[in-house]
Amino acid sequence: STDVRDGAVPDSLVVVSNREPYSHERDDDGEIRVRSAAGGLTSALDPVMQSRGGTWVAWASGDADMAVADEGIVTVPPSDPAYDLKRVPLSDAAVQGYYYGYANQVLWPLCHEDTGRMWTEPAYWEQYRAVNEQFAEAVDTVADAGQPVWFQDYHLALAPRVVREQRPDATLLQFWHIPWPAPSVFSHCPHSDALLDGLLACDVVGFHTAAYAEQFLHCVDSAFPAATVNTDTGSVTYNGHETRAVANPLGVDVEAVRERARAADVASIRDTVLGDSRSDPSIRLALGVERLDYSKGIPERIEALAHLWERRPDLRGEFTYVQKASRTREGIAAYRRYRADVVDAVERVNDRFGTDDWQPIVYTEAQLDNETLAGLYRAAEVAVVTPHRDGMNLVAHEYPAACVDGDGALVLSELAGAATHLDGALTVNPHDIAAIADTVEAALELDTAETRTRLEQLQNSVAALDSSEWVARQFSVLK
Ligand code: G6P
Repeated sequence: STDVRDGAVPDSLVVVSNREPYSHERDDDGEIRVRSAAGGLTSALDPVMQSRGGTWVAWASGDADMAVADEGIVTVPPSDPAYDLKRVPLSDAAVQGYYYGYANQVLWPLCHEDTGRMWTEPAYWEQYRAVNEQFAEAVDTVADAGQPVWFQDYHLALAPRVVREQRPDATLLQFWHIPWPAPSVFSHCPHSDALLDGLLACDVVGFHTAAYAEQFLHCVDSAFPAATVNTDTGSVTYNGHETRAVANPLGVDVEAVRERARAADVASIRDTVLGDSRSDPSIRLALGVERLDYSKGIPERIEALAHLWERRPDLRGEFTYVQKASRTREGIAAYRRYRADVVDAVERVNDRFGTDDWQPIVYTEAQLDNETLAGLYRAAEVAVVTPHRDGMNLVAHEYPAACVDGDGALVLSELAGAATHLDGALTVNPHDIAAIADTVEAALELDTAETRTRLEQLQNSVAALDSSEWVARQFSVLK
């Protein structure tokens, strides 16, 4: 058996995340259906869990009564059970305070450097602490001695400290999937010290970029003068325990994306998404794909496109923008308002420039399967990814990977983690409406040779961050 202290991927591990890798829903006929979650986290960790085994601990956010059976443990995936899923049931009050409250109205805006949106009800922090304790208890019931425990993301900053207190010798890891802010921003948080203390219970804390890891170290340095912080090695010694803060960028499963793109029936996907009246195959497409999150910069992008159609009337009827949007976190007013603003902006632009046989923006909230999405990537000449802030952004990885025909240009926010890692994108400040318009225009006018060169650079950088290496890179830090 392997010793994690050698830096190898362990034989078996415990993963802890807010979202489940598989969700359970009860059909009309009472049968339980199991569906795999499509996100970046699951596609990186599920293969490792399937080959190594262990337990994944997550909020039982699907069908609640499933969680009570067998102490909340079910085996996944359904066809060939390979590991256990320990489902943690949360009360309504817990979901309100921990998920809609602290995680998504304090930590999310804080880490995306949007402190004006922070709202810190006392119950949020109480529930965040209580739920982190609940996750830690679940870990305690499933983790064998010596089994490493890997916490995922901003929902679980405090649980590592609780587990450390129960198990001083445990190997604990965290990966923070969203940005880590500068100390001047982090200091807005009334619980900044407790959050840092929770994370410093880990042996390794991973981030998407070296800049996030450095900012984390600077926050530790200013919060805990007694800690020894070495920014060259990324090491912190705090209360006699050493933590390493590292950059470990997470990309996508490149071959899986390519396969889906190759298999996709691009023409029919294009027709379905554009609708009959607008399926003219000569219309050029740009594409945006995101959750309706205020960090994504969608209104600026729509305004920029309006400027472009305004000053380039020749592009009307020739160039269409497709916005694939997913509703998200709608228990929070800011998200509901953001969606309404986006829908309004789309309507305004369509009323202004649309004609009987051309619609400038095709907006869809349809749930597209991964293959349809890959086909849409292939159909689009340009992808526009302009978040104000984004931990990494996997659309920026998936799009070039899916461009199996050798063309496609990426307009990318310089403030997304992906901009640190990807060569070949046309980068832009996501607040600069004029620059977004110019850059989309430039993307549409790239000559074939430059398009190819840039796409090759993009595909090489995306391949270098293929998700298959991510787990091993995180564990290798333990050596
Ligand atoms: C971000 C977070 C993930 C989260 C996802 C979707 O990517 O880093 O942890 O799962 O958003 O948000 P949701 O609130 O629906 O889980």
